[in-house]
Amino acid sequence: MVGLTACEKYSYDPPVYVPPDTTQPYDPVSYSQQIAPLFPAYNCTGCHGGAIAPDLRESESYESLTEGGYINVDSYRESAVVIKIEDPGHGGTWKTKDLWLLFDWIYIGAPDN
Ligand code: HEC
Repeated sequence: MVGLTACEKYSYDPPVYVPPDTTQPYDPVSYSQQIAPLFPAYNCTGCHGGAIAPDLRESESYESLTEGGYINVDSYRESAVVIKIEDPGHGGTWKTKDLWLLFDWIYIGAPDN
């Protein structure tokens, strides 16, 4: 019975990202509260602490990412920062929920909030 349950589990498709429905009222992701802390949490700042662009320190990353052209609001997956996070050879993979928060924030237009 345990084995059967385990097998069934693997037949599910992986979860698919669904962007927020911006035609309805929604709670926007907060860059300062929810996104900025992720870069230090995943130790991106181990290298991107000022010397290597983009500067991903909590107080600097919004400006560095948006002004440096690392965010593509028309296509979150093609944002340079997303490409680096999804690159297994670069810095470390993020949990899906954290990556999806970043997608949400880019999708709603990368607000400075
Ligand atoms: C071990 C050091 C190191 C770590 C850790 C690291 N990076 Fe980098 N990163 C680099 C270097 C060196 C470059 C410049 C060369 C390159 O593009 O790979 C770079 C480049 C980048 C770029 C610019 C790419 C471009 O197209 O110009 C982005 C965005 C980036 N990193 C994001 C991240 C993020 C997000 C993390 C954390 C998940 C991270 N990096 C972790 C060393 C690091």
